[in-house]
Amino acid sequence: MGSAGRASTVVCSVFLITALLLKIHLAAADDEKVDLKEHAEHFYGSNQDNKDGDCPESDGENGISEESDTTLEREKEVPVKLTRLDGVQVGHIQEINLTPGRSHSLHTVNMKPLIFEIPDFFSNEECQHIIRLGQEQGLEVSSTHQITADNTLRLLDTNGDQRLSLQEMRRTIEDGYDIYLNDDDIREMYFRLKLDPNQDDFISRSESSGLKVRQLAAYIKDLVSKNPIKKSRYSEQTWIYPDRTKDDLVAEFQRRLLKLTRLPEQLINKYSFFQVVKYGPHGHYNAHLDSAGDTKGLPCCHLVTTKKCRICRYMTIMVYLNDVEEGGETAFVVANNDTFSDQTLRNSGNINLNNHCRESKLHVRPQKGKAVIWYNHFIDEETGWFGDVDNFTWHGGCPVIKGEKWIMNRWICASNDREVDLA
Ligand SMILES: *[C@@H]1O[C@H](CO)[C@@H](O)[C@H](O)[C@H]1NC(C)=O
Ligand SMILES: *[C@@H]1O[C@H](CO)[C@@H](O)[C@H](O)[C@H]1NC(C)=O
Repeated sequence: MGSAGRASTVVCSVFLITALLLKIHLAAADDEKVDLKEHAEHFYGSNQDNKDGDCPESDGENGISEESDTTLEREKEVPVKLTRLDGVQVGHIQEINLTPGRSHSLHTVNMKPLIFEIPDFFSNEECQHIIRLGQEQGLEVSSTHQITADNTLRLLDTNGDQRLSLQEMRRTIEDGYDIYLNDDDIREMYFRLKLDPNQDDFISRSESSGLKVRQLAAYIKDLVSKNPIKKSRYSEQTWIYPDRTKDDLVAEFQRRLLKLTRLPEQLINKYSFFQVVKYGPHGHYNAHLDSAGDTKGLPCCHLVTTKKCRICRYMTIMVYLNDVEEGGETAFVVANNDTFSDQTLRNSGNINLNNHCRESKLHVRPQKGKAVIWYNHFIDEETGWFGDVDNFTWHGGCPVIKGEKWIMNRWICASNDREVDLA
């Protein structure tokens, strides 16, 4: 090998070891669905065409009056709009009525992105009850992407200098496998796999030709099995489907969401499943967006069964179900920053909350029963419906240092197609 004759072919295919990326779903439909649910937040809902949310317009009781239906008989085309609660300013408190006989207050925690808290959204007993539901159903280890040995991997030579720095290799592995290594892990990997013979911390073009993706994938898989802390998500979880249970509290939760959000009932009733998650010591979830923003062309995952789709979650409602002894904050990594740059964020390493929790700009402390609420998307000014993703909502869970952390996650889905959403 090493003869000059190879040079031209190498030049042609430069740094691309084919772009099949990782295959989350090669497999047959049913397996896939089970799998998808385990993919933490990443793909869900494609198997949910539960039509039980087909409610006729019902704005009545909740004081939601988007439409002036009496006066506008003729032109009934006053479109329903998405709602967004008014934060007013940080520290603002509004009394709200979510359930008879109890009062709740809505606190504005942040404006950019807009984040609210509701202390005691659930009572102690209610928290206990939700945890029990999760336990009864059985928790499964959360996985994000599966590492399979036949993967191909896209090497991210972001600055185009024809070689991979440690940082670029770190990004490559993050993007390809959703695994978060540090520089020492990468050096160790180079050493074990004999990837960087001259040990200059760069993988040059000729060194990269010795890189076997299978071998790399197998190495990482093994590393993570011994060190689950390297995973983007280290937790256990289960899904609860309101339409498959007669549980009173689950139904009550739906009613509270309707009153809280003042969104059309259809949006609350459809795709209403939620996640109960437990994080043990070291448990964390690296920063991410709950919804996809930069893939406008794709259909929303909750509306299709195809693999190519994007997650469309208008709102997130997260409730802490216990008090965490230490750690476990929800961190909004770029909150209140002047501008947002995806590149800067990724290069900062602050996505990795296992190591960089403190660098986040805003931390919300776990507190039993407290709900944290935010909007992953803006409202489109023209349509009054699903708008751009709010890049300042990048967030994750800091490591639990002492004790355990239980939360529930509920998302309210919407799409760019109002008719479909309201059907
Ligand atoms: C935070 O804002 C500064 C100033 O505008 C900008 O240079 C930087 O890229 C931003 N950081 C992120 C992570 O977007
Ligand atoms: C959010 O960030 C993405 C990725 O950098 C960018 O393409 C998009 O335009 C940003 N969205 C908004 C509304 O600024």
